[in-house]
Amino acid sequence: MRLSFKIEGGDFTQAGQASSEVKKVLKQLGIDAKTIKNIVIALYEAEVNIVAHAYRGTIDVEIDDKKITIRLTDEGPGIPDIEMAMKEGFSTASKKVREMGFGAGMGLPNIKKNTDLMDIKSTVGVGTELIMVNYF
Ligand SMILES: Nc1ncnc2c1ncn2[C@@H]1O[C@H](COP(=O)(O)OP(=O)(O)O)[C@@H](O)[C@H]1O
Ligand SMILES: [Mg+2]
Repeated sequence: MRLSFKIEGGDFTQAGQASSEVKKVLKQLGIDAKTIKNIVIALYEAEVNIVAHAYRGTIDVEIDDKKITIRLTDEGPGIPDIEMAMKEGFSTASKKVREMGFGAGMGLPNIKKNTDLMDIKSTVGVGTELIMVNYF
């Protein structure tokens, strides 16, 4: 099964749409609650990152009988130092974003913790691609 979503940067009302839709589908498929929770946390953080840090993005979800693969690609400023960005508490979020309650710098570390595989590639000035996989 494949699902696809579009996200606009800056629109925090959209963050959470893909993760709640994916949650619904995984429940219908009878995936265990703990696995669903991990996937929803990781996808929510990844959606927020596109809204908070990029201009626009696409989310492609592929579900088979063994795993879920989620690929998020965005057009945005990119990440100059991925190792640094992965550190707990590291954030370049704007004051405006922090005032809305985002930008604690825990998104990427939480994505790492809640997925079985995570791969992030980024080109400064172009955008970022994040792939995450959870096995059922
Ligand atoms: N899609 C993205 N595009 C550009 N920069 C990003 C993206 N995702 C993450 N980053 C960078 O990595 C940092 C850390 O991300 P994260 O751990 O989610 O923390 P936070 O979003 O709270 O700042 C961000 O502050 C930002 O600098
Ligand atoms: Mg984040």
